[in-house]
Amino acid sequence: MSTRLRLATVLLTASLLLPLRPTLAQLAGHGGPVRALAVSVDGKTVLSGSFDTAAIRWSLATESAEQVLRFHAGAVNAAAFLGDGRMATAGADGQIAIWRPGQPQPDQVVEAHTGPIVGLAVSPDQSRLASASWDHTVRISSLSGGGTRVLHGHSQAVNGVAFAPDGQSLVSVGYDLTVRIWPLPGGSPETIVMPAPLNAVAISPDGEIVTGAADGKLRMMTADGRQTGEVMVGATPIVALAIAQDGALLATGAIDGTVAIVDRKARTVVRTLAGPGAPVWSVVFLPDGATLLTGGTDGRIRRWNALTGAAIGSNVVGTPADPLAAYAGDHGAEIFRACVACHTLSETEVQRAGPTLAGLFGRKIASLPGYRFSDALKAMDIVWTPETVSKLFEIGPNAYTPGTKMPEQHIGSAEDRRALTDFLARATSK
Ligand code: HEC
Repeated sequence: MSTRLRLATVLLTASLLLPLRPTLAQLAGHGGPVRALAVSVDGKTVLSGSFDTAAIRWSLATESAEQVLRFHAGAVNAAAFLGDGRMATAGADGQIAIWRPGQPQPDQVVEAHTGPIVGLAVSPDQSRLASASWDHTVRISSLSGGGTRVLHGHSQAVNGVAFAPDGQSLVSVGYDLTVRIWPLPGGSPETIVMPAPLNAVAISPDGEIVTGAADGKLRMMTADGRQTGEVMVGATPIVALAIAQDGALLATGAIDGTVAIVDRKARTVVRTLAGPGAPVWSVVFLPDGATLLTGGTDGRIRRWNALTGAAIGSNVVGTPADPLAAYAGDHGAEIFRACVACHTLSETEVQRAGPTLAGLFGRKIASLPGYRFSDALKAMDIVWTPETVSKLFEIGPNAYTPGTKMPEQHIGSAEDRRALTDFLARATSK
């Protein structure tokens, strides 16, 4: 046996002896659609933001949630890694929160906008953060304690922002059909009017600007706004756009759930990925330029090989496991369906937007360690029992627990409330 063959045999045997890697390729934790995705510079950590109001920091190596960041009062629409390991999240509440990994509360909060923030971009030198908002403005905030510059001009919602790689300009796109190229030293922007409302923008390493529009088209232009090409991606609005670090590939997410991979130079769609469900609100490449992450409407993050179109791992097209499957036929479990997007029943699941209800009965309100309750709740002296939970949904959270972050909801029928609390007694006792 030649040395090479023997080595191959040894390697093969060794690999057979290794424990099988878990086939879990999806990152499941959010209780609502994944609206934003960002990847750290080293490609090891992912930050996701969701309509469930939480952001989650994930380790890609272990495919597990390392931290749930709970601060925003509404959907988390945008997320970014700052160069120094800090992270930024921005949301429907108009606020930007800056986080240090492992810290339960944001380091810093910028009350930036009077409308939802839907896009964030970090300047190439990591010194500034730009935000795009439905309040029609773009803001550039200094990350080192300097001031904020507000860019007025868009006449409708601003949907995306990106810095030019040379750091000399910022590009914003909006529902008002315009691309605005703002010189960063100051001065008025170059404004280019496009044929359709714009939802997203990305800039390649060579400075080419790419916009994603409501008519399903990508349009390319030079750094100074001269149009150079377009690609028809699909029939429905493009809502998410990402560019690989080397600029070779683009990925789009569309309202109908289609994810398209586009060869930027050739101006062609090379592949469409099927299955993640509609719409796909977020797409991002890992630094390898080949692995793509997409954020699903089902709250899951999927991994794809953008070069082959293959899903990485198994179970990608399947529907998420029904957390209430074990309680089929239970009337109380059916009532609890209204709660399951935000509350888990056991502590082993990743926490959603609301606190886990594990061990609920007998617990004082807002006393669960590690969950960021609103101050109003912390001052109350309710103890959760079948009676108090029933009351909560009879008169509604706003009346029973004024100041709560839990959305207003009622369960009108006494019988349904009873079924719910019976179910909770069974499903949440430890
Ligand atoms: C859209 C998200 C959402 C939904 C749906 C929801 N909740 Fe909540 N719930 C929350 C949030 C957020 C809090 C924390 C409130 C705060 O801190 O102000 C909360 C708090 C609670 C609390 C108090 C927990 C404690 O430890 O003090 C209970 C009990 C509760 N919810 C039960 C339910 C039940 C039962 C349902 C379904 C009928 C439900 N919730 C539906 C988000 C939700």
